Amino acid sequence: MSTSTPAERTLVLIKPDALRRGLLGEILGRFERKGLAIEALVLRGMDAALADEHYAEHVDKAFYPPLKQFMTGGPMVAAVLAGDQAIDVVRALVGATDGRKAAAGTIRGDLSLSNRENLVHASDSPDSAKREIALWFPDFS
Ligand code: PPS
Repeated sequence: MSTSTPAERTLVLIKPDALRRGLLGEILGRFERKGLAIEALVLRGMDAALADEHYAEHVDKAFYPPLKQFMTGGPMVAAVLAGDQAIDVVRALVGATDGRKAAAGTIRGDLSLSNRENLVHASDSPDSAKREIALWFPDFS
């Protein structure tokens, strides 16, 4: 009988700034080198309705209009990543929200100077991972 921990899943969005800057391979490579499995991946845009649903908890915040404009402004990559404690592991690899304050060695700390154009979104809890995976990959089980 196996005693291994079942892999946890999380959703990442590699944001329009990352694709514009040619950083898709760099960012996906960091997740792959860590040992996370890419279980689903799609290149697509986010329209206004999907933005409002994805960021439901932020729609009333002052920063939401510029965030929505940015996130609907170009193609992005959505992916389901899996691995032991994937939610926390991915958040640690991505770094703090504001790239100017994120620790060196993290994706945002090394590659971003912004709290809006910060390259990656990552689910922040098991509930949000479940909700966001269902939103972006409705056929994924
Ligand atoms: S909160 O209120 O603490 O939960 O918000 P936070 O986690 O810091 O940020 C949530 C997402 O909002 C983005 N953000 C912004 N976008 C545009 N302009 C400003 N000023 C701004 N501040 C925060 C931030 O990048 C987060 O995006 P995601 O996709 O969730 O990482």
